[in-house]
Amino acid sequence: MELSAKEFKAMQSPLRQSMQKTEFETFQKFGFSAKDKDVLEIGCGSGFGAILISEDKPKNYVGIDIMEEQIALAKSRAIPDFTFQVQNAEELDNFDSESKDIIVIFGILHHIPGWRRVIQHAYRILKPSGTFFVEEPSRVLIRTLDFFLRWGHDPVALFSLRELEKTLRENGFIISRRKNYATLFGVFRADKPNTEGKL
Ligand SMILES: C[S@@+](CC[C@H](N)C(=O)[O-])C[C@H]1O[C@@H](n2cnc3c(N)ncnc32)[C@H](O)[C@@H]1O
Repeated sequence: MELSAKEFKAMQSPLRQSMQKTEFETFQKFGFSAKDKDVLEIGCGSGFGAILISEDKPKNYVGIDIMEEQIALAKSRAIPDFTFQVQNAEELDNFDSESKDIIVIFGILHHIPGWRRVIQHAYRILKPSGTFFVEEPSRVLIRTLDFFLRWGHDPVALFSLRELEKTLRENGFIISRRKNYATLFGVFRADKPNTEGKL
């Protein structure tokens, strides 16, 4: 779902960038390193996450987002060899199975009524021993933000952190690291096991 005008503006703010930097630092504490890796970012927004990731010099990076305005901003950052494309995260069939080492999400599943489908795709697209890094706000936080700020999220897409974690596990991921900020938002490292079913 495209962002409301209010949320779109908030997502471009220095406050959001500062928060995203902190989220990325948590990913790094959880072992995120994109050096020489094939990386897919789902819901890359205006590309601030891509700037953070580019410091690692990945082998390949693709960022997708459903909003043309976000992709235009991401492209304007002109990060060499990074690809940005307009695409719905519920329809990721064009990405080959077992083709990515890392998939990363900074807060987008709560916009997508079919978010469980995105998790299924992520598992399929990751190579064995690949890693899914996920930061997401909970239903409680989004309802509170919408009450005060009227950002207008679709209530059907919201979930609790417990539901998110359960869905990751049900799709085959092993949660190796997790940091929950009360029940408001969570940062997860979810690993796809190797071919022997182990980490
Ligand atoms: C809360 S913003 C986060 C953007 C960026 N990841 C960040 O951390 O600033 C959510 C992003 O998800 C994108 N989005 C929403 N629904 C989507 C979908 N079905 N497929 C792909 N992107 C989607 C929005 O366009 C928006 O850029």
